[in-house]
Amino acid sequence: MTNPLFDSLSLGDLHLSNRIVMSPMTRDRAGPDDVPGQLMVDYYRQRASAGLIVTEGAQPSAVGKGYWRTPGIWSQAQIDGWAKVAEAVHAEGGQIVMQIMHCGRVVVPANRGYDADVIAPSALPCPDLVPGPDGVPAPTAMPRALAADELPGLAEEFAQSARNARAAGIDGVELHASSGYLINQFLNPASNQRTDDYGGSAENRVRFPLMVLKAMADAIGNGRVALRISPGNPYNGMDVIDPAATFGPLLQGADALNLAYIHVLDMGLKDLDTLGFVRNACRAPIIANNMLTAETGRALIEAGRAQAVSFGRAFIANPDLVARLKTDAPLAKPDYSLLYTGEEKGYVDYPPLAPSA
Ligand SMILES: Cc1cc2nc3c(=O)[nH]c(=O)nc-3n(C[C@H](O)[C@H](O)[C@H](O)COP(=O)(O)O)c2cc1C
Repeated sequence: MTNPLFDSLSLGDLHLSNRIVMSPMTRDRAGPDDVPGQLMVDYYRQRASAGLIVTEGAQPSAVGKGYWRTPGIWSQAQIDGWAKVAEAVHAEGGQIVMQIMHCGRVVVPANRGYDADVIAPSALPCPDLVPGPDGVPAPTAMPRALAADELPGLAEEFAQSARNARAAGIDGVELHASSGYLINQFLNPASNQRTDDYGGSAENRVRFPLMVLKAMADAIGNGRVALRISPGNPYNGMDVIDPAATFGPLLQGADALNLAYIHVLDMGLKDLDTLGFVRNACRAPIIANNMLTAETGRALIEAGRAQAVSFGRAFIANPDLVARLKTDAPLAKPDYSLLYTGEEKGYVDYPPLAPSA
């Protein structure tokens, strides 16, 4: 029997040559003004044999930035920078989707290099420390609560970021709705204590996230828009009680939008079969993620629990991960001290296997 990891697959309007996806990873290598430069072009080009690359989170506005040297997708210079990334990946036969990540309240002001608002559903700070410019954990800023009448305009910023990604030649966008960033902050009762139509019940808490998804789908077509979730993930101060109660209505809303895929960072919850739950709530294809191997990924696809699988850390030191998995070759280990620092070191200097190996 052939290994389905290496079969082609269509996800909406995306056409993958294999089912091994590169998971989004923030690497803090954008240039001045949050513009992707040659280093990022080389990094993504090296990894273009993935069936699909999901880029690191890119902020849809200056206000969306919370971390050090993350790329933007709101200025013309940023669009031009991403165009070189897309061109390089396409020249190698790959497909590339951009993750749209608005940090909301998860902002260390010194990471930005400029003054800008810090926004959230409610005026509640992130309880966790976040790496600052020198990588030392630092407190985040106190956010201001968004007014309800600001939300349609904010959703339009996400839609514009999707148009900008397409203008750069990027194949689609993935909305980051996990890990405690803005969209997750609306979903979660720990960070959303609003008393209007956008807070309280689960139906209210999913309203803004679905408004954003719909705006993005209307902007560039639903077959190029995807959603990333991680039910029960406590990262950045999220409450983990009964994630199904919130993610059920979110996924039902996503189902109606007929998205390209749902990317599931599966926490391996004790009380919830997350992949089965997502499958029942929404018909979109599933990309499963978290601590997978070639064997466990293959088993998920063969069982129909996912249509593709994504790898994060394994892609860091193995730019040719697909070839290595195909030939059962050993995987190189990344230098974790260089995840967010080092420029080319620990970024574009991991070699592919020699042809004879
Ligand atoms: C250095 C690093 C940066 C990451 N940045 C992001 C990110 O920007 N957006 C996101 O959704 N997940 C991010 N993640 C999570 C990964 O996409 C992935 O879910 C996680 O590493 C688990 O997959 P793995 O076991 O295959 O590594 C990051 C992970 C790492 C290691």
